[in-house]
Amino acid sequence: MGFSLYALHRDPGVYADADRFDPDRWLPERRGEIARTAYVPFGAGNRKCIGDAFVYTEATIALATILSRWSLRPAPGHVPKEVASAVAHADLMPMVVTPRDA
Ligand code: HEM
Repeated sequence: MGFSLYALHRDPGVYADADRFDPDRWLPERRGEIARTAYVPFGAGNRKCIGDAFVYTEATIALATILSRWSLRPAPGHVPKEVASAVAHADLMPMVVTPRDA
């Protein structure tokens, strides 16, 4: 059996406002709106990505390290554009980076 990660991650029957770049859809209070099986960025089955646990660990450590020292907010004036990819994400997000108070 085959399926399209691209189509699944943009299915309006699964995701509200499916084509919109909306990272807030993953906030804890909204997370329950999306079935666990509807988000498979690393694929599924016997060709599933072998790097998934590594990536979640690496991303968690990187974000915790960066965000403990720096405050990031979107640079004004940039409108994110979608890229063709298995998961919906923006092309780039320029950020204004300021040190957090010690
Ligand atoms: C955010 C990061 C990553 C994403 C979103 C991602 C996503 C994917 C996806 C969608 C596939 C295809 C799965 C399928 O065909 O069903 C894949 C395959 C694969 N990924 Fe990743 N990956 C990521 C990072 C990594 C890393 C860090 C490694 C290695 C350390 C890795 C190693 C592999 C390998 C070897 C395959 C082929 C598995 C096979 O065909 O048996 N990936 N990945």
